[in-house]
Amino acid sequence: MDVSAAIENRRSIRKYQAKPLSEEDMAKLLAAARLSPSARNDQARKLLVVTDEQIKAELVPACKNQGFVKECAAVFIAVHNPEKRWSAEDCVIMLDHVSLQAAELGIGSCWIGAFEEDKVKAVVGIPAEMRVAICMTIGYPDEAPAARPRKDLQEIVCWQKYQ
Ligand SMILES: Cc1cc2nc3c(=O)[nH]c(=O)nc-3n(C[C@H](O)[C@H](O)[C@H](O)COP(=O)(O)O)c2cc1C
Repeated sequence: MDVSAAIENRRSIRKYQAKPLSEEDMAKLLAAARLSPSARNDQARKLLVVTDEQIKAELVPACKNQGFVKECAAVFIAVHNPEKRWSAEDCVIMLDHVSLQAAELGIGSCWIGAFEEDKVKAVVGIPAEMRVAICMTIGYPDEAPAARPRKDLQEIVCWQKYQ
């Protein structure tokens, strides 16, 4: 699968098979995260990977009771340093790389933006001065949802001047 196909085939997956990621697959996802670009190449971000069943269960209430957070194989938590400009953006780029690499490997993912930051930080021990940018569930899919609709290009793209 090439990048275009991964972009087309990626879906938000919220039902996962009850099995861990293979070491090889996890290594590829982490490599994609590592290779993603960052402003000034600062790499001022951290990827916290939660595979522990107990900790995943504790993350559910911190993620607005989204039950699939504990059913997935791993929760990826992208942590940034608010003193470093662009580090939040770097985190999102990092997990977008992960989601597309996952799609190529037949691995499902779902962005998790609905979370209570203080609760997530408390569960996984993130220091007060660091921020949670975004989270993502990862695992082998147990559903194959249809593509969700997108606006037509002319609704989201304008040329030369804002319209
Ligand atoms: C920043 C961001 C935050 C999101 N947060 C959640 C979330 O907390 N829970 C959830 O089930 N889906 C979440 N989603 C997934 C979106 O609902 C999904 O991407 C959108 O409906 C389009 O569907 P698709 O990903 O299958 O194309 C989030 C997506 C993004 C980009």
